[in-house]
Amino acid sequence: MFTPKVLLVNDDPASLLALASLLTDRENYEVITARSGEEALRKVLTHDFAVILLDVSMPSMDGFEAAEAIHSHPRSAAVPIIFVTAHYADEMNRLKGYQRGAVDYLFTPIIPQILQSKVAVFVELAKKNLQLQHQKMELEKLNEDLQEQRKQDLQHINERRQAEEALRQSQEELRQLASYQERIKEDERKRIAREIHDELGQNLLALRIDIAMLHARTGATHPKLNKKVHGVLDHIDSTMKAMRAIINNLRPTVLDLGLNAAIEWQVKEFQRRTGIACELTMPPTELVMDDGRATALFRIVQESLNNVFRHARATKANIELVLTESRLLMKIADNGVGIFPGCRRKANSFGLVGIKERVSTLGGEFDIHTGQDIGTALSVSIPLDDAIGTTNVGMEGSLPPIIFDRRASDALDLKISRKRTPARRKKESDNINELT
Ligand SMILES: Nc1ncnc2c1ncn2[C@@H]1O[C@H](COP(=O)(O)OP(=O)(O)O)[C@@H](O)[C@H]1O
Ligand SMILES: [Mg+2]
Repeated sequence: MFTPKVLLVNDDPASLLALASLLTDRENYEVITARSGEEALRKVLTHDFAVILLDVSMPSMDGFEAAEAIHSHPRSAAVPIIFVTAHYADEMNRLKGYQRGAVDYLFTPIIPQILQSKVAVFVELAKKNLQLQHQKMELEKLNEDLQEQRKQDLQHINERRQAEEALRQSQEELRQLASYQERIKEDERKRIAREIHDELGQNLLALRIDIAMLHARTGATHPKLNKKVHGVLDHIDSTMKAMRAIINNLRPTVLDLGLNAAIEWQVKEFQRRTGIACELTMPPTELVMDDGRATALFRIVQESLNNVFRHARATKANIELVLTESRLLMKIADNGVGIFPGCRRKANSFGLVGIKERVSTLGGEFDIHTGQDIGTALSVSIPLDDAIGTTNVGMEGSLPPIIFDRRASDALDLKISRKRTPARRKKESDNINELT
């Protein structure tokens, strides 16, 4: 418990005793006495006083000098001093007292209540002062703690930012790696398809021509041999058919006729294979874009339709391509069961993830809208300007078109909303005829 101290300074022991006897509230403060200005000075160096009651007229060092000396010391510079005097009550001397730091005057004979209430005010002030000092210290400590906390928070934020940045960078690198691998994969498929086509295809064709000739020549003369040769011809034909299917799986050659034709073919094939009714809406104009982008879109349609077949239990699929000024919007919707909650990101399921990655590589956006029994709709939007998402395929030119079975798929009943110009129709059918 803090007890404020009151210093009484008087050279006359009787006056000192009388003064001290008036200060009765000893629970609230302690009274210390000094018999001279010098002694008072020594006391203020070792005690903190709430107030000093200083006699003005003292031998050797009077009250004014003592006040000046007390206030010149840093430790006691702010201690309030009340002069106690019977004389010097005139204005000039009072002014002198105030100039030396007095806060008040008490004149003898002293009225006890006035003395007590003045001392009580300063004692209370000292207490409040101490409280304030404690609060100030607490606040300073709190402030320090807060600063430290803030420093730590900032450090954490910084560390988190760095970790996020590192994660973002590594995700970006992974994305680039995935896109690079995809490109390499497509290039490699294209290369193998080309080699099968050029080497195996040409040899098979030469073999077929020779065997066909042999077949024609043995028809009349060697019926048995002719029958055998016929069987060989059938073998060669089925081998060629299998080879075409392999080539087509590796690199859908229909892509070389443009994305419109490729998607059309793919949707027809899907309808033929699965029996799911498809409705395809295409822009009237040809979709012109680099091979990488066209292949990516083709693969997206392929994966989406595969999903419809494998998971949707749908009876209908809707494929819609819309060309705006700067973007290509593609929507593949089905009327199936919808994606079950939690199924979208299964372990070892990379179809939807792959679509997302491809779209992100093209600088586009990908969205899935699905719900129980309302089916699933995948929406893809990609920018068409060259700057974004252009994939350099890195192959010298595209494969010569090798489409063998397109006419068969044409016979399928597929609803296609596309206005094809007569010139375009002719070009496509010329291409196909030339190849078959
Ligand atoms: N059209 C769809 N209709 C219903 N469920 C679907 C559809 N597409 C995808 N899914 C669900 O999302 C899952 C993840 O699909 P995907 O990433 O393509 O992987 P995978 O086809 O190899 O399972 C599927 O296993 C399936 O449960
Ligand atoms: Mg899939």
